[in-house]
Amino acid sequence: PTPEPSPVPPPYGFSSQVTTGNLSSYQLPSDFVWGVASAAYQVEGAAMEEGRGPSIWDLLSHRVHGYVADGTTGDITDLHYYLYPQDIARLKAFNIPYFSLTISWSRVFPFGRGYVNEQALAHYDDVIQRLVDAGIKPIVTLFHWDTPLALMNDYNGWTSDQIIADFLAYAQLVMTRYDKYVPIWVTVNEPQVYCGDEYPGFPSGYWPQYGVTGLRAQFYCGHNTLLAHAQIVDWYRNTLGGTGRVTFKNSANNFIPNTTSSADAAAVARGNDFQLGWFNSPVWQTGDYPASLRSTLGDLLPNFTAAESAMVLGSCDFFAIDGYTTDIIAPAASGIADCAANSSDPAWPTCIQQSQVTASGWDVGFAADPGASWLKSDPTGVRQFLNYLQKTYTGPKGKDIVLSEFGFAEPFENNFTALPDARYDQLRVDYFTGYLNNLLAAKVEDGVNVTGAVAWGVFDNFEWSSGLSTRFGLQYVNYTTLERYPKASLFTFMDFFKQHGL
Ligand code: NOJ
Repeated sequence: PTPEPSPVPPPYGFSSQVTTGNLSSYQLPSDFVWGVASAAYQVEGAAMEEGRGPSIWDLLSHRVHGYVADGTTGDITDLHYYLYPQDIARLKAFNIPYFSLTISWSRVFPFGRGYVNEQALAHYDDVIQRLVDAGIKPIVTLFHWDTPLALMNDYNGWTSDQIIADFLAYAQLVMTRYDKYVPIWVTVNEPQVYCGDEYPGFPSGYWPQYGVTGLRAQFYCGHNTLLAHAQIVDWYRNTLGGTGRVTFKNSANNFIPNTTSSADAAAVARGNDFQLGWFNSPVWQTGDYPASLRSTLGDLLPNFTAAESAMVLGSCDFFAIDGYTTDIIAPAASGIADCAANSSDPAWPTCIQQSQVTASGWDVGFAADPGASWLKSDPTGVRQFLNYLQKTYTGPKGKDIVLSEFGFAEPFENNFTALPDARYDQLRVDYFTGYLNNLLAAKVEDGVNVTGAVAWGVFDNFEWSSGLSTRFGLQYVNYTTLERYPKASLFTFMDFFKQHGL
């Protein structure tokens, strides 16, 4: 019999230890971007207040049975919509220089287009003003998954190219109003996720009458997203003359092969094409999708005109990556041939198998073996990942990379009812320590041009289909009293930047 391929030994080409002693005294440049992140639907609450129109997430959490695992909604969550003055005051007290937030599209345009809700704009005027007064720089995301419900009803959201003009109009209003206060704009958050999760099979027949459905919807969503993003950036640079930097935020994990077999290596390459190449080959490499997507997907994948390709190519000022973890990759049990043939397989099209460890079902900080417990985690994955991203996407252009989100939900945190337990979040402390030190090693020792690190999240919040029970916060939130309490990991995070000169 053929011998089993052996597991790939850590550290996958990088030392698991930071190698030079002087890293601990390395001083980060004063313009290094660091801070904490949030998103409108996850933290604001006040879902029916001050003229907000519903978004798709109101429908998902209220009406699609089982969509949110614990049955919670974002109706109240952290009530940041009303508590933002004290939340901002607290960030100021922590000396955190950047706050990443979203403006809610369906607050500003309750119907997605047309009528503008001035009360919402007055609210965001005050949010931005208070941040500026506190010396905190806003990183503003225009869309973080909360598609106005009206646009789902009108044309099934991102699957229709009608959304491009509506999103552009919203972006123009917001960017014109706030540009002088906002150094970093993010058009859309993690299109890999909202296109991949929300559109293909979902919401089980709510809008079958409109436009494209099934797997085709995923790639039309992605396509319309890229075109909308590129038009916004073009308008921002050439018409508004905006002074900030613009990008979109990627969601991707570092992939390592399960074994040294060529099948596992091919699964890694395919996985990278589908999670990163899907959006970044058009933006950073060729103006078109990777060849492997074209050959696998056929006419499920739309085409760019020459003018569209030209606009999409180069439409990011820097590479923003929400990179939380490493996945150990092997071909799906059914094999790539089956995957390609059976597009209803939920594992398709990446056709990968992932081990699952944390509360959020993700490997923690780069576990070394499939099925390894979090106690054996190997945080060098972020270093490897940054090297991969720089080499693959940004190298020739010399653009920089910002880790625009990273963080961790402790496996057992949800079961802790007593506050003191949640505040002593040793696993998250370990995650941040390992992650940040390896990020630094990538920057200093490997020369990766990483210019920022933003932690998710500012406090516990509504974790989408996991609801309020999965807690990613650097501050604990008591959802009965809405009080916030710093966790130990918040101090780990802040102390790291202090130690490195910020
Ligand atoms: C990325 C998403 O942008 C954010 O909304 C989510 O809560 C975190 N990851 C954690 O899953």
